[in-house]
Amino acid sequence: PAQLDLAGRRVVVTAGGTREPLDPVRFLGNRSSGRQGVALAEAAAARGADVVLIAAHLEIAAPAGIELREVSTALQLQEAAALASADADIVIMAAAVADYRPVEVSEGKIKKDERGDSMTLELVRNPDILAGLAAAKKPGQVVVGFAAETEPDKAAQLELGRRKIARKGADLLVLNRVGWTEGFATERNEITVLDHAADIVLEAAGSKLSVAHRILDVIAERLS
Ligand code: C5P
Repeated sequence: PAQLDLAGRRVVVTAGGTREPLDPVRFLGNRSSGRQGVALAEAAAARGADVVLIAAHLEIAAPAGIELREVSTALQLQEAAALASADADIVIMAAAVADYRPVEVSEGKIKKDERGDSMTLELVRNPDILAGLAAAKKPGQVVVGFAAETEPDKAAQLELGRRKIARKGADLLVLNRVGWTEGFATERNEITVLDHAADIVLEAAGSKLSVAHRILDVIAERLS
């Protein structure tokens, strides 16, 4: 990568997976380790950017030389992302954000003797943070989303990506396949990047750090 091509640029990266509490000891979560987001933050910092990493339950240490803001729930991530994005040149939403949260959070532990043999959880949709940031985009700002799909078929995955970037209004969408053994918690990644017109602008495979640099190359080209 070009050295220090992001010097003086403000970059916001969200990483990890949100947790939506059910009661004081339980939550709804996901298997995101935060590795790809952390690699993006690390790569951006190495290229000279001022990086804010909004981290939800990372399984690995945050890189040195960045500003870390820790959050837990989708609503906390939304607030932190809105605040940090106000003066950012680049916003990368790599976090796995819960689509739904429990309508009610029990004050005490949910007890099975009170609930019996089955119980139903009522959930409510979380706001789409990426779509909100893209709608509030400042001139010249580049907003990047991720799409983790379990769809095994490449063409079907691209079709999902095309619909997603249109719906979200992001400038770039990074597609990667995830499953029981792929994507999450692994060291390697394989990605396809779509632009706003849903054209493929990058296909890359390798370590999450090398993939991060390739993604930043595409983003850097788009900065005015
Ligand atoms: O719709 P889907 O969850 O597949 O979209 C993934 C992208 O949208 C990721 O960039 C993720 O960070 C973001 N997202 C979000 N707010 C949500 C759900 C996902 O910003 N509530």
